[in-house]
Parts: sequence; C-alpha cells; structure tokens
Amino acid sequence: MPPRPVTDADIDSIVGAFFAPDRDMFRTLLDATRGLGGDLAELGVLYGASAALVGAARQEGEVFTVVDLFGKESSDDSNAAENESSYAGLTRAAFEANMMRVVGELPTIIEDYSSTIVEHARLGSHRFVHVDASHLYEHVVGDVRAARALLKPDGIVVFDDFRAEHTPGVAAAVWQAVLTEGLRPVAVSPHKFYGTWGEVGTYQEALRAWVEGEPLWTAEWQSVSGHQLLRIHAVPSWQVPRHPWKRFVPVALWPAAAKVRRLIRRRH
Ligand SMILES: C[S@@+](CC[C@H](N)C(=O)[O-])C[C@H]1O[C@@H](n2cnc3c(N)ncnc32)[C@H](O)[C@@H]1O
Repeated sequence: MPPRPVTDADIDSIVGAFFAPDRDMFRTLLDATRGLGGDLAELGVLYGASAALVGAARQEGEVFTVVDLFGKESSDDSNAAENESSYAGLTRAAFEANMMRVVGELPTIIEDYSSTIVEHARLGSHRFVHVDASHLYEHVVGDVRAARALLKPDGIVVFDDFRAEHTPGVAAAVWQAVLTEGLRPVAVSPHKFYGTWGEVGTYQEALRAWVEGEPLWTAEWQSVSGHQLLRIHAVPSWQVPRHPWKRFVPVALWPAAAKVRRLIRRRH
C-alpha cells in the first residue's frame, strides 16, 4: 500500500522545527524528482516532522531509509553535549509511533552515526536526501560524502541549519562542498540549503513556479562563486497586502469585492 499523503496539520502534530517555506519546497522538489524514481533518505529525524513528509513521497519500489542516534550517547564529546541539551528524552519508539500514525508505515531505521547510512542504504540510487543530524563540521563533512554516495546524478540534497548562528560547522561544510566538491546550489531558504551534483535548471524552474503562486514568499537570484541560486525569502511585511484576496482581484473590482465581504460578514 502506498503511504498516506501528509498535510501541514499532520506535520504540526509532531514536535520539531520544520516550517514554511521548507515544507512546500520539499513538496515541490519531491514532486520534481518523482520521474527520476529512486530512494529517499533522512539523516537526523528527531520525532519525524520532516521524515513524515519525505516518507509520504515514497513510491512503489522505492526505499526510505533514516538514521539517528535516538538518544544513544555519542562518543564525540561535543556531539554528546549537543544531543543531551537539544534532544534529551528522544526515543525511537516516539519516532515510530509518529510515522505509523501520520504516514501509515515505517522507513528502514538505522540506529547509528549519520554517515554509516552508506553501509545500509543503496548507493547511487537516491532521488532525495535530507541531512539534519549533527551540526559539527567534521560530522557534516562525513554527511556530505554520504549524501553524495547515496544520490543519483540528478538527486537533490537538502542541508538544514546551513546558516544559523549556532551552527557555523554546517555552513563551513556545505559551502566547502560547493567550492571544492562540485555541489551545485539550487536554492536557499531561511533555514535550509538545497543542492544537487547534477543539473539545477529543472529544480529552479519548479521552485520558481511554486513561489509565483505564494502570497507570503518570494524569490531573488543570487550569484555565489559563479553559481546562480534562488534565495527564497519572506515578502517584506510592508508589501504583504492587508487583504490577501486583493492579490487575486483586479483593482477596479476592489470596492465591489469589499462590499460583498461586508455583506457576508454581517450575515454571520
Ligand atoms: C535537528 S534534529 C532533526 C530534526 C528533524 N529532521 C525534524 O524535522 O524534526 C537532529 C537529530 O539528529 C540526531 N543526531 C545528532 N547527532 C547525530 C549523529 N552524529 N548521528 C546521527 N544522528 C544524530 C539527533 O538525535 C536528532 O534526532
């Protein structure tokens, strides 16, 4: 049986930090890679907020593999300290319960260090890999290598926290991969970096088509070391129409539309 579709309300029901615009960017890129066919993977699942959305995209014959320490103490002191302060109490059972409740099936689960996923999942077969485990530079370098080994040539990799104040190690590892290892940036959002070792054009087109229909998000092109990437960001508050419906109604009809809205409100 295929997995269930996952709504924003489903994701909201799982503790985590997986918000707009990344939910829709995941949906757009998971859709855009459907035709490639291939496996899915997530490194670092916590309680399953993003894993639910990725897992729900699994097609017949595709394998979704996840890896997490699930509270097992890391032998690296900095990693152990980070996990103890941020993810204390995390259990595999809670993750599994969320996946069963929301997606209706479990992924293949590896309880180990993130980069060991290459010992369990098929290499060169993935269409989408989300990296959201340790924030330490050395670990993320390992995760970059693992993601590359897992991916098909045109597969998508997403790195969380590539620019947060408390995660300089992720930033260093991700941009290093761009500058020295051929990773091509597709887009950046406030929290995530989207890239591929393949062609970026189709993915950037898909994201542009998505963002055009969005009242609260917009895009601009930026150039980084010769790479054109899309920066997806919030529409500045002074540009958000106080009445979102005005985006869809010609100006000449605003007075009439406002009158209709007032009438409807009075009736309720
Ligand atoms: C930021 S959370 C993941 C958030 C999740 N993707 C979501 O949407 O809620 C990071 C996860 O990575 C796991 N983790 C931290 N260091 C790890 C390591 N070295 N190897 C594997 N997992 C690790 C933690 O146990 C935690 O569940």
